[in-house]
Amino acid sequence: MRRSESRELQVELGARAYPIRIAPGLLDRRDAFAGVRFPRHVLLVTDANVAPLYADRVRRLLPGQQEAALLVLPAGEQHKTLATCTKIFSALADMQASRDALVVALGGGVIGDMAGFAAACWMRGVRCLQIPTTLLAMVDSSVGGKTAVDLPQGKNLVGAFHQPCAVAIDTDLLATLPARELSAGLAEVVKYGALGDAAFFGWIEQHADALVAGDATTLVQAVHRSCEHKASVVVADETEQGVRALLNFGHTFGHAIEAETGYGALLHGEAVAIGMLLAARLSSEMGLAPLLDVARLAALLERLHLPIAIPAKIAARLDPSALLARMRLDKKTVSGRLRLILWRRIGHAFVAEDVDSHHVLELLTDALADGG
Ligand SMILES: NC(=O)c1ccc[n+]([C@@H]2O[C@H](COP(=O)([O-])OP(=O)(O)OC[C@H]3O[C@@H](n4cnc5c(N)ncnc54)[C@H](O)[C@@H]3O)[C@@H](O)[C@H]2O)c1
Repeated sequence: MRRSESRELQVELGARAYPIRIAPGLLDRRDAFAGVRFPRHVLLVTDANVAPLYADRVRRLLPGQQEAALLVLPAGEQHKTLATCTKIFSALADMQASRDALVVALGGGVIGDMAGFAAACWMRGVRCLQIPTTLLAMVDSSVGGKTAVDLPQGKNLVGAFHQPCAVAIDTDLLATLPARELSAGLAEVVKYGALGDAAFFGWIEQHADALVAGDATTLVQAVHRSCEHKASVVVADETEQGVRALLNFGHTFGHAIEAETGYGALLHGEAVAIGMLLAARLSSEMGLAPLLDVARLAALLERLHLPIAIPAKIAARLDPSALLARMRLDKKTVSGRLRLILWRRIGHAFVAEDVDSHHVLELLTDALADGG
């Protein structure tokens, strides 16, 4: 247990404030969930990959564990649906969970988003403890209270804002994460540097090899700095009326690609990597940002083993107008206008209202033509 590497942040949201505890080996510590009140009804929700690895370890830490029910859901974005969510509601109903119940989300962003959404809905809202197990979930989805499920028409279209009561991050869990999933999480780490912190972007460039190799100490630092960014944005704008929208840098493109390819062809983080590059390219083509920064972003993503173009096999199946139509449906658009997060340079993203859709269509046409 390396307590010197332990970090704790507080998401200052008044009565709904909560801690983010980050430590390698956290799930071996009896105080992992200090401050969380455990009621009679606890439902531990996880997926079929994570359950055999970590469910028992978490159950052992829950006081009154004999009362904690375990629900194992199928893994993968294609299961982030209302139908899967219904299984969580049924499990809560079967255990006769009351308004005092606690839902524990143990998994990546898919489990975190679905369990969080179920917690938001059950009896109009019960508490949710987030225990993220992927890098993406540790640096992004477990913090901030956005919960949702996908529809065939688009990602995260049905959801709610529902803050967790605590976030417990054991970075040692990353040791079992497949390399491709680690890289996908690194895309969201890059996002924080790209949108608002050029110095952090430089730090990621310096430590790219260590990060992609899964170096434990470097990963703790990356998780901590990312959570600091996420928490400060969430505190400033909990329900995305303003600055929180910047966190969607690359996401409107990414979500469109994910939805159009059918969930699962590309990982969410991979789609975000491609989306960030498209946003950067569009910014340059509109004369808003230097082309040099596009190259710098592409070089970094490549070093992190992320795609920098839509893979040719996928590109061949996509139609630029269909992607544009998906982008219009993305919930970041306002009244049908194309509203995108663009940048002026590394570390300086902004909300661009009323982007000319012809520009975007041209960019998408080019991107599909030169698929990697
Ligand atoms: N709520 C938010 O603010 C927010 C932010 C970003 C992304 N998201 C959502 O997050 C989702 C993507 O999350 P993700 O990338 O974590 O995907 P995921 O939850 O599908 O997890 C990726 C894969 O890794 C496996 N896995 C998880 N932890 C593991 C571990 N420690 N060891 C071995 N295998 C492990 C899972 O079973 C799964 O197969 C998307 O649906 C996206 O929309 C939400």
